[in-house]
Amino acid sequence: MINRIKEIKKELGSELIILAHHYQSDEIVEAADFVGDSLKLAQYAEKNKLAKYIVFCGVHFMAETADILTEDNQIVVMPDISAGCDMADMADISQTEVAWQKITEKLGSDIMPVTYINSKADIKAFCGRYGGTTVTSSNALKVVEWGLKQKNRIFFLPDQNLGRNTAVDLGIGLDEVAVWNPVSETLEYDGDMNNIKIILWKGYCYVHHNIDIKKVERLKKLPEFKIIVHPECPYEIASIADFKGSTEYIINKVKSSEKGSSWAIGTEFNLVSRIKKMYPDRNIEIIDQNSKCKDMGLTSAESLLNVLEDILKGNLSKRICVDKDIAKDAKKALDTMLSLSV
Ligand code: 13P
Ligand code: SF4
Repeated sequence: MINRIKEIKKELGSELIILAHHYQSDEIVEAADFVGDSLKLAQYAEKNKLAKYIVFCGVHFMAETADILTEDNQIVVMPDISAGCDMADMADISQTEVAWQKITEKLGSDIMPVTYINSKADIKAFCGRYGGTTVTSSNALKVVEWGLKQKNRIFFLPDQNLGRNTAVDLGIGLDEVAVWNPVSETLEYDGDMNNIKIILWKGYCYVHHNIDIKKVERLKKLPEFKIIVHPECPYEIASIADFKGSTEYIINKVKSSEKGSSWAIGTEFNLVSRIKKMYPDRNIEIIDQNSKCKDMGLTSAESLLNVLEDILKGNLSKRICVDKDIAKDAKKALDTMLSLSV
């Protein structure tokens, strides 16, 4: 299969580009032309005007983002179109509209909607329509800081953990953070509402939310270990970690560390096991062996090969195509983020 993938890549030449997220399996990472975190993948998709076919090995919101940022004559396909993101699925547009109406009724309209890139295209479009933007785990601090200079408050979707960790990094107190519960349609907040700076959507990534905190606390007692986690981890974990950052940040931190150093890493299993193999002269501990993203695991050499064969046959049934009106507003939100991330 790998040999046939190579043959097709040769045959299609610069017409084809294979993009992969760091959580993909080793075989996919090896077959890809470019591997990155969400920000780098979005930037790469936006810049590459040459490829007619962009094969996105990741999850649905990433392929949607690539489709929004590429030209109309560029075609984005996924090897497995059922690869979604449970966190992105925790916020849909009708819930978001209800939330916006109720929150602005309570707090006024001096609020900027900001969505994590791990969200559906219509949520990004909602943010674009209301003068907001998107963030990734690598630029959340900078973008939210910028947002708070434009507006008094931020409505942050859908990851409460990234939102809370970012707020605290910006010096915002936990008592200034409210949580919007989309199921009960209520604002969870005890204090004086005038003090609210950030309203978090009550969503989370199960892969990071469920990392075993007891294991982190045990590792914290071993002075040789530096703890590094993804900011999708709950505040209770992120606040005791030595470092936190995007997948790319985590890789670079280990890469630039001293030989023999010890790292306990809290993020998706595929990536941590790859880092372990890449740096055998560092002592790498996977904080939680259960941190596996079922959707990232759906793409295989077989599904990649199948979609490439489909391209050769002119079968584009796995194309990801965002509705034009939604794409237009979503692009506004993405463009704002990209212009803040150069
Ligand atoms: P980053 O690669 O941007 O850190 O995102 C992690 C993630 O959860 C993607 O789904
Ligand atoms: Fe979504 Fe979490 Fe999987 Fe990333 S790791 S795709 S945030 S469920």
